[in-house]
Amino acid sequence: MLKAAHRGASGYEPENTLRAFRKAIAMDADMIELDVRLSKDSEVVVFHDEKLDRMTGQRNAGFLKDYELSELKKFDVGKDGKPQHIPTLQEVFDCVNRHVKINIELKGENTEKFVGRLIEQYVQEKGWLYSDFIISSFDADRLKRFHDYSPKVKLGLICKKLPTNIRSLIKTIPLYSVHISGVFLTQRQVEALHNNGVKVLVWTVNGTNLVEKFKRWKADGLFSDYPDLLMKN
Ligand code: G3P
Ligand code: MG
Repeated sequence: MLKAAHRGASGYEPENTLRAFRKAIAMDADMIELDVRLSKDSEVVVFHDEKLDRMTGQRNAGFLKDYELSELKKFDVGKDGKPQHIPTLQEVFDCVNRHVKINIELKGENTEKFVGRLIEQYVQEKGWLYSDFIISSFDADRLKRFHDYSPKVKLGLICKKLPTNIRSLIKTIPLYSVHISGVFLTQRQVEALHNNGVKVLVWTVNGTNLVEKFKRWKADGLFSDYPDLLMKN
C-alpha cells in the first residue's frame, strides 16, 4: 500500500514547504502530495490556497496569481519561528531528488503545460522516470489537457464522492487512480473501481482506525498529514 504524505508531512511541518517534504522522506513515505499554482509570471509554485492569507498570516495579502515569483519569495509561510519560503515545483524536485514519488495536484488554472514541460525536462535530461509522478486534479478536463502535454505520466482523478459518470470518465481518460475522500467511500466502490482497473487512493486519513479500515478494504494507497501513522499499521 502506497503511503503518501498529504502536502508533505503537514501534521508536523508547514504544509507544502521543503521542511514538510524533507520530514516526509525522513518518515519513509513512498510519495508526497503537493498542490501547484502559477505565479503572475507563470512560474509553477507549490501552494494550496487561492489566497495567501491563511499561510502567511497576513490579512488581505490577496491572490497568489497576482504576485510574481520574486514577490512571492518574500512571504514567510513557516511556523514556530522557523521561516519557510513558498517553493517552486522545481525546487521540490531538486529537494526530493527521487527519494519519493511526487503526486502533483493541478490546483491552479493553466498549470498543465508548465508542469508537463518540467516533468519532460527531468525525465529527458536528469534521469527521472515517468513513474516518479502522478498528476491529479478535481477537474477531469484539466487531466485530459495535461495528458496532451505529457502522455506517459499517470493520471489520478480527485473527488469527494465518486462521480455518477465515473464509468464514462474511465472510458475517456486513461485514469491510473481515483483519489477519493474517505468520508463517503464504501467498500463496494473500492471493489468496483478495482474491477475497472483503477487504483483507489484515499484522503485524508489521520486516524489509526481509519487506516486499518481502508487497508481491510484493500485501498491501494492512503494520504495522511501524519505519514508515520501509516507506517505503524
Ligand atoms: O489530493 C488529495 C487532496 O489533497 C485533495 O484535497 O484540498 O487537500 O488539495 P486538498
Ligand atoms: Mg491537494
